[in-house]
Amino acid sequence: MEIRKAVIPAAGWGTRFLPATKVIPKEMLPLADKPMIQHIVEEAVSSGIEQIIIVTSSGKSAMENHFDRSFELEYILEQKGEEGLLGEVRRLAELANICYIRQREHLGLGHAILAAREVVGDEPFAVFLPDDIFDAEPPLIKQMLEVYRHYEGSVIALWRVAEEDTKRYGIIKPKQVEERVYQVLDMVEKPGPADAPSDLAILGRYILTPEIFEALRRTLPDKRGEIQLTDGLVRLLGQQAIYGYEFEGVYYDAGKPLGLLKASVALALKHPEMGAEIKDYLQKLIADL
Ligand code: G1P
Repeated sequence: MEIRKAVIPAAGWGTRFLPATKVIPKEMLPLADKPMIQHIVEEAVSSGIEQIIIVTSSGKSAMENHFDRSFELEYILEQKGEEGLLGEVRRLAELANICYIRQREHLGLGHAILAAREVVGDEPFAVFLPDDIFDAEPPLIKQMLEVYRHYEGSVIALWRVAEEDTKRYGIIKPKQVEERVYQVLDMVEKPGPADAPSDLAILGRYILTPEIFEALRRTLPDKRGEIQLTDGLVRLLGQQAIYGYEFEGVYYDAGKPLGLLKASVALALKHPEMGAEIKDYLQKLIADL
């Protein structure tokens, strides 16, 4: 079955970015030349996704406005003869078929995914965590689709982490089935190095079968009162096989200010208009240290 729909959980408070995120959703912070959420939506579209479900919460309407028409702004740009910008602003409203669901309480990633159940329905779907930015060609979800088609099970993105970082990710217990592809035997959410079953961490791209919804519905909250997607996936493991794909490409953790800055610089260096100037600037800055 084709993957037509994607869920983007974007309901978090963005506390790591305060004070920047006091009134602006974290997902609207710019990454090089455009908001993080736009990068993610464009990645989903270029992976062949037709419908995007953004899970939001109160105070996050800027995202909805970003992907909507703005007649006032369009009028002003038209008057000024800013054809290029006008085209760019109009394109945003036509980028994708997007709908929004409110997660009414902050009860974890699993709970956010569960909020999209009715809209996703009974079909496999992709999940894009907007904090995780990938520079990969073809886009990571496209790479994962190959694995999904071959093994016909849920697929999660994997990346090797240093021992001290296992506590920041879901970590899997793997059984390698081919180069870069693993069958997941078990997984643990954010274990310390002593409890981590391997160094293969789950990153924010998933292809999930619809059975995950029932598994999540039955998943109990963790110690912090949150329903974890990882715990839902462990429950799903009792029913069907799950695979992991160690991806090819570059990963940026844009969920913290330094990570966002690094991702921004890296993407700007590759940007056709910004690249040369930012490279020059960085070289001068470093030479003057
Ligand atoms: C979430 C998941 C975790 C995964 C991570 C990837 O954690 O719960 O399993 O490894 O995303 O970024 P979060 O970063 O939302 O705390």
